[in-house]
Amino acid sequence: MNPDSPILLFDSGVGGLTVYDGLRKVLPDAPVIYAADLAGLPYGTKTEAQIAARVAGLLGRMAERFRPRLVCIACNTASTIALGMVRDVLEVPVVGTVPAIKPAAALTRTGTIGLVGTGATIRQAYVDDLEARFAQGKRLLRVAAPGLVEAAEAKLRGRGVDPALIADVHAELTAMPGGEAIDTLVLACTHFPLLSEELAAAFGPEVRQVDGAEGIARRIAHLLEGQSFEAHGPNRFIVTGPIAGAAGLEDALATRGFGPAEVF
Ligand code: DGL
Repeated sequence: MNPDSPILLFDSGVGGLTVYDGLRKVLPDAPVIYAADLAGLPYGTKTEAQIAARVAGLLGRMAERFRPRLVCIACNTASTIALGMVRDVLEVPVVGTVPAIKPAAALTRTGTIGLVGTGATIRQAYVDDLEARFAQGKRLLRVAAPGLVEAAEAKLRGRGVDPALIADVHAELTAMPGGEAIDTLVLACTHFPLLSEELAAAFGPEVRQVDGAEGIARRIAHLLEGQSFEAHGPNRFIVTGPIAGAAGLEDALATRGFGPAEVF
């Protein structure tokens, strides 16, 4: 394995940076290329066919160009829909990001778990399957929160978050039968941990927030155990569509050790 071969992290936007942050804690020296499909954002309001075709096509082209040692789909929407297909087309290990229902089920005391994701994620059979396997006997209440994807994108560009957006998600979940007993919240979209303070303000500090970022980072580190890393220069942040889509992200990128955004 070439020591400068990167790990490719992929998301529709900046959400996968939450996985990147987890990854840097366990593999600080690994060269990373982060790809944000800003031209396709948001995925959560698209159809399964649109998402699968887009993600498999883009990752195929990116893998050819960047020759990564491993690909991580740092997006729940893309993973729950296209993980199998991407694994079929790529020749390197592919790690997905799926809703953290298993750890949430282990944490809940009341037995009631809220799950906030994109519209496309919460309707996936993949999520039904995780619920059946890991949350038997628990109540799992799902809500789609497309506004939070936009809010997280804006927050990383230094803009404020409208508290009404978060309040609506809280109101929708707690109005569901049994919803007042939610004590654990699954952040089933990689964008949402970027809003953890705002979510804590709405749900209260006693509601535990669970996401997959650290687990995924550990999984990647495990798969790459024994490999050597040699980074030449800062990590790369690549976007689809015009470079203007990355305007405002300069600080968020610089503090995370990325060079200036580039177009794919
Ligand atoms: N970050 C993505 C996820 O984890 C989705 C955001 C979107 O494109 O709708 O689901």
